[in-house]
Amino acid sequence: MLRLRGLRQHQRLQLRHNEARIVESGVALEAQRDAASTMADMTAPLATPIPTIPLNDGHSIPLLGLGTWPMSDAEAAESVPTALEMGYRQVDTAAKYENEVGVGRGLAASGVPRDELYVVTKLRGSEQGYESAKAALGRSLERLGLDYVDLYLIHWPLPRLDKYVDSFRAMVELKEQGLIRSVGVSNFTRSHLERLIEEVGVVPAVNQIQLSPATARREIRAFHEEIGVVTQAWSPLGRQHRLVGDPTIEALAEEYERTPAQVMLRWEVQQGIVTIPKSTDPERQRSNASVFDFELGDEAMERLATLDLGEQAAPDADRHEEF
Ligand SMILES: NC(=O)c1ccc[n+]([C@@H]2O[C@H](COP(=O)([O-])OP(=O)(O)OC[C@H]3O[C@@H](n4cnc5c(N)ncnc54)[C@H](OP(=O)(O)O)[C@@H]3O)[C@@H](O)[C@H]2O)c1
Repeated sequence: MLRLRGLRQHQRLQLRHNEARIVESGVALEAQRDAASTMADMTAPLATPIPTIPLNDGHSIPLLGLGTWPMSDAEAAESVPTALEMGYRQVDTAAKYENEVGVGRGLAASGVPRDELYVVTKLRGSEQGYESAKAALGRSLERLGLDYVDLYLIHWPLPRLDKYVDSFRAMVELKEQGLIRSVGVSNFTRSHLERLIEEVGVVPAVNQIQLSPATARREIRAFHEEIGVVTQAWSPLGRQHRLVGDPTIEALAEEYERTPAQVMLRWEVQQGIVTIPKSTDPERQRSNASVFDFELGDEAMERLATLDLGEQAAPDADRHEEF
């Protein structure tokens, strides 16, 4: 009798324990479902797709892409697919970022067909030179797991080395071999561009430079326009100049019912500047890419023009040494 009562008590306890587990796993399941649907919401296709603009070599480039510095391989492998799933197509990396492996994993995991992707990587300073540039691209392709890149840039001109002309010559040959779709440069001044064009006879498709309302880079942009080079903006949110939080930008964000980042990115794309904001956060990735459904008026553009700190606020590419 006693044994039977003990057994019933044990069964009741077991039952309560099981019920608790069922409730707990129900809650866990619900939480899992919530997280999955939030993730699905975050990666749902952008309401307005990212347009492309033509380059001087017959190819075209998405007007907005994902920056990946300073993502680690693990961060890039996670952040690249979320961006691609919502509709980003351009991803900007560099040998120097040491995350090409992670970017490559992210590209593959996304399932987006190769011909819809737009992958940009860069030749690092320590690998400049005719032969070494060719070998460097091979290593980048291997790390990325790709047969070609859409755009290959010389990361910094490093005039002290005096190798950017030879590097570019090698890149033009790699383009002819189909390993690069478009050749470009980064952080080049007018005189670097003039020398390159004169000695190699090819106008780069793109010059990627530091550019935001705080560093508007009017002179070099005017020169790009004159010679048919597309301007691409790095640090488009004015990271170093703390533009998120600037009162002019905040006021405009309020007026347009947008975020400060959207005001800056719209200011760029509205002028035909290709922009590559970096974010590991899917929500910020989404809002950063949601800038193709509104327009800043003339007065707003004029107010943003007052934030330009001039060329002295941008890096001096004649002296900057980064390998
Ligand atoms: N060619 C070159 O020499 C060169 C030099 C530097 C950079 N780049 C390239 O340009 C890309 C962009 O430049 P960047 O990374 O220096 O600067 P950025 O894209 O202007 O700013 C990135 C920073 O802003 C944050 N952020 C992103 N979206 C935001 C939003 N909506 N509101 C508030 N904060 C936001 C990011 O944090 P979370 O990730 O937490 O969102 C990150 O800390 C780089 O990733 C790299 O691919 C090229």
